[in-house]
Amino acid sequence: MKQREISAAVIRRLPRYYRYLGELLQNDVVRISSKELSNRMRVTASQIRQDLNNFGGFGQQGYGYNVEYLHSEIGKILGLDVQHNMIIIGAGNLGQALANYNFEKVGFNLIGIFDTNPRLKGVSVRGIEIYMMDMLDEFVATHQVDVVTLTVPKRQAVEIGHHLEEIGIRAIWNFAPTDLNVSEDVCVKNVHLNESLMTLSYEYRAMHTQDEESGRD
Ligand code: NAI
Repeated sequence: MKQREISAAVIRRLPRYYRYLGELLQNDVVRISSKELSNRMRVTASQIRQDLNNFGGFGQQGYGYNVEYLHSEIGKILGLDVQHNMIIIGAGNLGQALANYNFEKVGFNLIGIFDTNPRLKGVSVRGIEIYMMDMLDEFVATHQVDVVTLTVPKRQAVEIGHHLEEIGIRAIWNFAPTDLNVSEDVCVKNVHLNESLMTLSYEYRAMHTQDEESGRD
């Protein structure tokens, strides 16, 4: 399928469609109307139709969407139809928590974890070994590493980012609270959990302010 320019907002919504459709598939649901999908996902049916029309629709009038087909097409758009090898750099609290999570489910295979702390040398997390950083270059040269998850302290992150670019890494999932300052050849996705928490704080406060105001009437 030929992909045209798609807005960032639509792309951001696709993982959620993918997740819901995956759940439907697990529950052996064969097809779903945009109305039903909209009830489950709490977005309007017209938003769903509009979003999916970006990719040629996938739906059929009077039939709705074929769940398996839509799930696999969205998976292809998101690049989840291919497997990616991932390593984690920084095996502290967050790095180990992420290593314990099964990202293989969405096609990201964890093949190594790296740290500088000698106490972690040879320790395994979910069967995956923690190597020392001086092994990194050789590891990257001898393994296909597609994505690096970066969970090191902020002050080390920028330097490591540069080094990763030098050794040919082209995708970094960055959890360190800093911009990495790598070239445009490297795809970086920053994750900031506290930004999500701040949005929650805002919405929670807005909700309470509304309650208080309506209580006053
Ligand atoms: P931590 O201190 O438990 O772990 C950091 C690990 O990095 C340690 O094991 C340390 O030995 C290792 N390390 C230090 N220098 C290194 C280097 N040059 N090369 C390889 N490994 C190195 O810290 P924690 O709590 O796991 O946090 C890690 C990072 O993630 C921090 O930058 C923190 O601010 C960030 N963080 C981000 C969140 C987010 O939402 N984006 C949420 C929580 C933490």
